[in-house]
Amino acid sequence: MRVLVTGGAGFIGSHVVDAMLARGDQVLVADDLSTGDRANLDKRAELRIADISSATTLAEAFRGARTDAVVHFAAKTKVVESMEKEALYRRVIVDGTRNVLNLAETLGARTFVNISTGGAIYGETPVCAAETAPTAAVSNYGRFKAEAERLVAASRLLSITLRLANVYGARQRKDLEGGVIAIFVGCWARAEPITVYGDGRYERDYVYVADVVEAVLAALGGKHRGIYNIGTGVATSVNELVSALTAVLGPPAGVRRAPPRAGEVLRACVDPSKAGRDRLWRSRTALADGLRLTALAEGADLQSDAAPSVGGAGSGGESR
Ligand SMILES: NC(=O)c1ccc[n+]([C@@H]2O[C@H](COP(=O)([O-])OP(=O)(O)OC[C@H]3O[C@@H](n4cnc5c(N)ncnc54)[C@H](O)[C@@H]3O)[C@@H](O)[C@H]2O)c1
Repeated sequence: MRVLVTGGAGFIGSHVVDAMLARGDQVLVADDLSTGDRANLDKRAELRIADISSATTLAEAFRGARTDAVVHFAAKTKVVESMEKEALYRRVIVDGTRNVLNLAETLGARTFVNISTGGAIYGETPVCAAETAPTAAVSNYGRFKAEAERLVAASRLLSITLRLANVYGARQRKDLEGGVIAIFVGCWARAEPITVYGDGRYERDYVYVADVVEAVLAALGGKHRGIYNIGTGVATSVNELVSALTAVLGPPAGVRRAPPRAGEVLRACVDPSKAGRDRLWRSRTALADGLRLTALAEGADLQSDAAPSVGGAGSGGESR
């Protein structure tokens, strides 16, 4: 299969590229390397550097190419930054998605897998949100991702949108506003104090990147259409995360407290049961296993009794 992956040099996109190459797909990547890194990409993937928010640059970069499917990851992804840079976020997420849809048609794609967000699109979720829950994004990032979803649904392509929960794993950026797990593991590795915003009771649904890769490959199978949540259905607070990491890595070097951040919801959790019911996907990696695998990949020293038990998979995603 020939697949075009936008944002394929980024955190999640590069893991998906690896899995596609491993099963023999031909992979083309569109990325402007703004937050992605060439070093994330296997040399067998063909990288074309292009900004998806420019229709002409994108068309130039892929003139003459053909593809069977498109997986669309490329986006600006920082919730807090989206409140300060609204125009940039609209251009990359909304205009960029429109341009990628047009490109997909031009290149002859049959299937379009759109990567969206559950964490930022549902707003506050006292109960883990099913796909039928109304979207109530608090941030510009979430609002624009919802708008991009509507563009995808209205296109002529056969499409599926995956609303990802908070993804974690190797290669995630540790700069401010990257995933909290990447930031924390980096602090632990450098023996620096961690920073906890608000009272540490913010809750998120953390899904391991290898499980997300499986969801994307299943979506590429082309049998499912519409919107699917991809998460664990388990909400974990920052304080619980610190305890879980302490079990893996020992106590942190210190804990700094900081005020809550603009645009952040208190509880973001998705209900993934539709994906299970429709035999698309189920999460497999328990948080404790995913944390151990992430810490190992980042070269952190594990507690002697915290070696990964089962290579992460098959251990029941909902029992942490
Ligand atoms: N990481 C998460 O927890 C999470 C959760 C929900 C949804 N998502 C979605 O998954 C996708 C990937 O996120 P990620 O965490 O891997 O982030 P990332 O920043 O590592 O990946 C984004 C990639 O897109 C590229 N990109 C950004 N703007 C571009 C542009 N204008 N033109 C071309 N390429 C551009 C970046 O260089 C990068 O390689 C995003 O769509 C994001 O909204 C991520």
